[in-house]
Amino acid sequence: MTSDEMSIKLVWISDLHLDHLESKDPGALMRLEAALEEEGAAHILLGGDIADSRSFEAGLKHLLDVTRCSISFVLGNHDYYFGSVADVRRRAAALQIPGLQWLPKTGVVELNKDTALIGHGGWGDAHRGDMENFILLTDYAAIKELADTINHEDFWINGFRKRSALISKLRQLGEEASKSLKYYLDKAAGRYKRILILTHVTPFVETCTYRDRPGSEQGFPGFLWDCMGILLKSAAAEYPETEFLVLSGHTHEDSYARVASNIRAWSSPAEYGELRYRIVESSGWTVGPSILV
Ligand SMILES: [Fe+2]
Ligand SMILES: [Fe+2]
Repeated sequence: MTSDEMSIKLVWISDLHLDHLESKDPGALMRLEAALEEEGAAHILLGGDIADSRSFEAGLKHLLDVTRCSISFVLGNHDYYFGSVADVRRRAAALQIPGLQWLPKTGVVELNKDTALIGHGGWGDAHRGDMENFILLTDYAAIKELADTINHEDFWINGFRKRSALISKLRQLGEEASKSLKYYLDKAAGRYKRILILTHVTPFVETCTYRDRPGSEQGFPGFLWDCMGILLKSAAAEYPETEFLVLSGHTHEDSYARVASNIRAWSSPAEYGELRYRIVESSGWTVGPSILV
């Protein structure tokens, strides 16, 4: 990466789900390497759901080896599956591999003198939507901190009516993630003309869509990081000269919105077993179409 004003070309990949990709399309990473060589891009923004807790470190190393690109990453909900949030984050923070950085630990990355990169995976934070009848995600059984909140008889037999402990935990995870990202947002805002923000869960209703339609009240609790959206809109109003670009995944839906005059947000499409990337270029800070490798 460069610290001057040279052109920057970044590769954004979200919801890689390597555990599915390696069995369904084992040649995909080699084709990615060839595609990125042709694009002339050497830095990957990896937006979470890399694999699961048993294999995300090996997956990151493999991606580094095959592509020979540097990688800035955030974690997604699937990266905690079969493990705990605390343990996976501890392991992500402990990774010491040249060319690899976990954004919640790295903090503000200067891409050039005008542009900073920050990121956090975030969480579907049960801040907004139908708290009685929201869509149940496998997260609630497969991630230790969430599974610990659930009365298993109620969850599996009674249709999951006792949701208050889970809702509290989701809110706590969302607020902790917001606090972490806000710390770096405050450091970058006012210093840079553009702030690129990589998340897993979208902070905005506008890009929390389902099958090309606006998201539903049942979907928002698990698919929207609402408390971060409020903080970002407030920061954007406070710094009207700063341009905020927010790149998210998790919904697996293609979505774009101008959320405020100085916030543009994208959600990237994904499918288990497929590998897609998008090019983010500094000329105009444009995000290209999703390209299937
Ligand atoms: Fe995903
Ligand atoms: Fe996800």
